Amino acid sequence: MNEILHDKEFNSFREIIYTEAGIRLNDHKKALVQARLARRLRLLGLATYAQYHAYLVSRFDQEKVHFINAITTNKTEFFRENKHFEYMKTVALPQIERSSPDEIRIWSAGCSTGEEPYTIAITMLEYFGARKAPGIKILATDIDTQVLEKAQKGLYSEDQVGAMPAALIKKYFSPGMEGRDAVYEVKDEVKKLVFFRHLNLRMEEYPMQKQFDIIFCRNVIIYFDKVMQAGVFRRFYSFLKDSGFLMIGHSENISNISNDFMLIGNTIYKKVV
Ligand SMILES: C[S@@+](CC[C@H](N)C(=O)[O-])C[C@H]1O[C@@H](n2cnc3c(N)ncnc32)[C@H](O)[C@@H]1O
Repeated sequence: MNEILHDKEFNSFREIIYTEAGIRLNDHKKALVQARLARRLRLLGLATYAQYHAYLVSRFDQEKVHFINAITTNKTEFFRENKHFEYMKTVALPQIERSSPDEIRIWSAGCSTGEEPYTIAITMLEYFGARKAPGIKILATDIDTQVLEKAQKGLYSEDQVGAMPAALIKKYFSPGMEGRDAVYEVKDEVKKLVFFRHLNLRMEEYPMQKQFDIIFCRNVIIYFDKVMQAGVFRRFYSFLKDSGFLMIGHSENISNISNDFMLIGNTIYKKVV
């Protein structure tokens, strides 16, 4: 596909993704948007981005989801930014076990293809070991319906699990084959702790009923502008228990956005109450 994405359509796509998802695309993202939408154009048999733009606008309710799925960046991995999981095991979980003895609730907001919530589940299982654990509920949400489908299946390639210690792979994944490729399926004892749901962080109100002991929102707000970030942190504030922890990506920062959280570790925050 040699078709070029012109500024007129690029600017309109930028506006739509910001309005719908809060994702801010700067001028340098044009080639990226062009590449990501190229597949969609091919699939729909459309020759130009102008045609795709017309298609998107005229069938907005149906096409919106595919457009958003194409634009989002979903890079993730098991035990990414591992300091957070070390902190969970050594500091956060011992405290949470005392403050929430009946049920521990964790939210992975922007969970992508599931590596983050499954890592959280594995960390919990490792922490409790043979001890009787309280109820554990890990809510994993994303705006992208395609990654959620993949996450729910819990099937990963050798490369995707490869960086984990062999003992953990053996304990928590079942090896199999898909055609000629080795695949690793997350075992049921891990899967059953994680609940995947579609949720757009852009929404003014989130539908959950109860607060969380830890909110992970890592490498997600980096795509938002300050207005959107401030809104998300305001909502996180009300969904985090007073004793809870908020983890954001290692290259992200709250300090110039919100005064509601104080830094207590490497991109780890507590609520100011
Ligand atoms: C780069 S991935 C990060 C995945 C994981 N948290 C990690 O750190 O490895 C960012 C995820 O945020 C999701 N996302 C982007 N905008 C969103 C929004 N408005 N609401 C919910 N999720 C969003 C994307 O679909 C993507 O899966």
